[in-house]
Amino acid sequence: MDGIQDGVAVVTGAGSGIGRETARRFAREGASVVVADVDEDGGHDTVEMIGDDGGEATFVRTDVSDQGEVDRMVQTALDEYGGLDFAHNNAGIEGDNAPLADDTEENWDAVIDVNLKGVWRCMQAEIPAMLERGGGRIVNTASISGQTGSGGAPYVASKHGVIGLTRKAAVDYSGENIRVNAVCPGIIQTPMIDRAQEDSAELLEQMTAATPAGRLGQPEEIASAVVWLCSDGASYVMGHPFTIDGALTVQ
Ligand SMILES: NC(=O)c1ccc[n+]([C@@H]2O[C@H](COP(=O)([O-])OP(=O)(O)OC[C@H]3O[C@@H](n4cnc5c(N)ncnc54)[C@H](O)[C@@H]3O)[C@@H](O)[C@H]2O)c1
Repeated sequence: MDGIQDGVAVVTGAGSGIGRETARRFAREGASVVVADVDEDGGHDTVEMIGDDGGEATFVRTDVSDQGEVDRMVQTALDEYGGLDFAHNNAGIEGDNAPLADDTEENWDAVIDVNLKGVWRCMQAEIPAMLERGGGRIVNTASISGQTGSGGAPYVASKHGVIGLTRKAAVDYSGENIRVNAVCPGIIQTPMIDRAQEDSAELLEQMTAATPAGRLGQPEEIASAVVWLCSDGASYVMGHPFTIDGALTVQ
């Protein structure tokens, strides 16, 4: 994809699932990648996979609910690779999925802090570094739960919020050569979905049956959309919530 080679990317939640595949795809397209995650084993495994593919990556333990660690993540891109061009703000947790009135404040605070405020913290740290470089590309992971009421209340609210934050950032920085977009994955086969399946053995079948494509998505299919949104091919795509869901939400 044009415009990715020799760039520098940070990917949060890159120790698993969608983030791991985005990190690998950036590296395959010739970017150097900062792999950020709270899960150190997962993060190191991703770096090893990228190395095995012949790519360049470094791991930095990052909890996106801690501004100091987020700042250190961006500083790692500057120190190791000399700047920052691309960011995939992707770390997220599903939280508990209770009916709204049964939900707890603890669950609300935990999910909002990672999924919504985490994306805000990351952009706050990334944008100044990108302005310094003369521009950049940011993709935030929202969800079809950002466009529907499907999922726990804080999850749904956080993902609607990510789309709003993406639009605000695009309004503020599109004129300064920073393109900001979001991806809204449908049901993607990652450890997050494996965990949901543990609670209900039939869930996978139900989710597959509900998807017009007749199958769940693969993390690589989100990764390729993220890297394309960062590429020159998407040069006039700004503030867009890009749905990738096998036609789940259009039926
Ligand atoms: N899998 C799906 O069906 C699906 C659908 C829509 C949206 N999403 C979103 O995609 C993103 C990635 O999910 P996934 O399916 O790959 O899940 P996953 O659980 O496989 O990966 C999430 C990663 O985020 C990391 N993480 C969690 N909290 C963190 C924190 N505070 N700081 C840094 N890293 C943290 C985890 O350690 C993990 O490596 C999430 O934002 C999720 O909400 C997933």
